[in-house]
Amino acid sequence: MDVNRFKKREKSFVDEPVPQGVDMVAEINRMKQEKKAVILGHYYQTSDIQDISDYLGDSLKLSQVAAETDAEIIVFAGVHFMAETAKILSPGKMVIIPDLEAGCSLADSCPPDEFRKFREAHPDHTVISYVNTTAEIKTMTDICCTSTNALDIVNYLPEDEKIIFAPDKNLGNYIQRVSGRDMLIWQGACHVHEEFSVEKIAGLKKQHPQAKIIAHPECEKPVLLMADHVGSTSSLLKFTKEDDAQQYIVATESGILHKMKKESPEKDFIVAPPKDSTCGCSDCNFMKLITMKKIYNSLKYERPVVELDDDTIEKARKPIVRMLEISKELGL
Ligand code: 13P
Ligand code: SF4
Repeated sequence: MDVNRFKKREKSFVDEPVPQGVDMVAEINRMKQEKKAVILGHYYQTSDIQDISDYLGDSLKLSQVAAETDAEIIVFAGVHFMAETAKILSPGKMVIIPDLEAGCSLADSCPPDEFRKFREAHPDHTVISYVNTTAEIKTMTDICCTSTNALDIVNYLPEDEKIIFAPDKNLGNYIQRVSGRDMLIWQGACHVHEEFSVEKIAGLKKQHPQAKIIAHPECEKPVLLMADHVGSTSSLLKFTKEDDAQQYIVATESGILHKMKKESPEKDFIVAPPKDSTCGCSDCNFMKLITMKKIYNSLKYERPVVELDDDTIEKARKPIVRMLEISKELGL
């Protein structure tokens, strides 16, 4: 099948204009009720999408919801690997991603053929892979993880266990530094988190000496070393709620600032600047492909849907379920 032709066709309807006079938010809410649909929104979505999501969270929380919801349709306002994970966990449901091209540079940095060879070269290693991977990579994985539970899952394994960690090198190196474990790390990275500039963050800190620096572990080591707190998206959010500082320099995707401001309206949040000064933002351009209009159209037409064959679902399900079981056992 010519996948690109299919994508173009899907793109044309999601970009269809919303008819004049239609209240998009009211219509989305009405269609959700009528079709027994839920919207799962990641913290990196725009604020309007976060506000209409039935469940808002990080990758771990959203996969836990996807495994448990009794809705008939899941609309995933996030990126493709997240929607794929929802489909794997709830194969009987219709899973919609409002733009099929909402991919992930980190997932793309781990091509299945190369990863298969890498894994075969180290048969005595347990494979832990971040959920930011394709379903095919998950079929070659023993346990999945997210940035919220990666350290706990590595520590859950016996101390002498040899580990392959994929695909994010920055998260892998961070976990290795903190846990001291024997890990072989795939050299992938996320284009948003790799872009933060140490010099510019240091400049901001000079201007705002009281501000605390907080960073996602997908950032490069020099950024993590200057941070007051390193953690997943939800860990950074929790920190800003519980900590007593008034100002934060935030080194992760800028969408999370909406929730941070909502939770702590009296505090001030500054987006950490990227190295490339032509772009003053820290947006994930894949996450930001999802728009209210595309959600409206995809609910209306019940497309584009995420499809996976049964064999892939069966094999990719095991490491995700294992991750959810361990997370439950550890109270995460
Ligand atoms: P979280 O695990 O914090 O949701 O991160 C998802 C992601 O895409 C990070 O870039
Ligand atoms: Fe992927 Fe990075 Fe975007 Fe997260 S922020 S979805 S890791 S490209």
